[in-house]
Amino acid sequence: MSQSLSKSSPGDDPEHGDPVLRLTGLNKSFGPVHVLHDVDFALRRGEVMALVGDNGAGKSTLIKCIAGIHPIDSGRIVFDGRPVTIGTPRDAAALGIEVVYQDLALADNLDIVQNMFLGRERRKGIVLDEMAMEEAARDTLAKLSVRTVRSVRQRVASLSGGQRQTVAIAKAALWDSTVVILDEPTAALGVAQTQQVLDLVRRLADTGHAVVLISHNMNDVFAVADRITALYLGRVAAEVRREDVTTGQVVELITAGRSGDLGLAPATAAENI
Ligand SMILES: Nc1ncnc2c1ncn2[C@@H]1O[C@H](COP(=O)(O)OP(=O)(O)O)[C@@H](O)[C@H]1O
Ligand SMILES: [Mg+2]
Repeated sequence: MSQSLSKSSPGDDPEHGDPVLRLTGLNKSFGPVHVLHDVDFALRRGEVMALVGDNGAGKSTLIKCIAGIHPIDSGRIVFDGRPVTIGTPRDAAALGIEVVYQDLALADNLDIVQNMFLGRERRKGIVLDEMAMEEAARDTLAKLSVRTVRSVRQRVASLSGGQRQTVAIAKAALWDSTVVILDEPTAALGVAQTQQVLDLVRRLADTGHAVVLISHNMNDVFAVADRITALYLGRVAAEVRREDVTTGQVVELITAGRSGDLGLAPATAAENI
């Protein structure tokens, strides 16, 4: 199966192993609006991929295609070396793809354990297996070295913004997930909480997940990402390793689609202005 992946496929990097998820030539339109153009995107276990781009660049649309919310019009999705179709969120979940959306979708009136297992409760016979769920919640938080949460039986309403984000991320890590996608996880947080969440993002990768971090914040991107994919008007302007670029270059990729030798050819970048 892997022979079909040519040497020049996007994201190839012999030093860092095969991508767990690879999208090739992905196109997506909403009616007459062509939002994603021939997008190539690759993720590896153990790495944080920052997905950056201006408002309207197509970041959310891209992750919704990966999450099975939007069907793609054309393109190829390969997961762990196998071509797959992700038609529904259930398909995505079955592959181990979890998304933490910006609004977090936590239930304030429920506690941390109940939130982490919401809709996927464990049962013992016909009753909920509270002990098993509590233990799994505690285990997951411990594995991710989360020390900011006092009790897993605390109601989510009583948590700070950073703690809520932590719970949402731990929930995504609970399900044997392979790919965890985080949409602007630090957008609403102060400095100390941002640092805690970035530490958690790093630990997610260090515990073997492939992590996508959507962010507008270059400090966050440069603090935690291994690679950066910059989208410009629905096209991938560049996929770069963090250590190969400066903040200024990434900002140019975001705002102009190119920076020096990097990015879209002048004609492509200009045609979109
Ligand atoms: N459901 C939809 N129907 C029509 N157009 C959409 C839909 N979702 C997104 N778009 C359009 O696709 C483009 C990319 O949007 P989006 O993916 O939300 O960008 P980003 O997340 O990078 O800000 C925008 O022009 C937006 O208006
Ligand atoms: Mg968005």
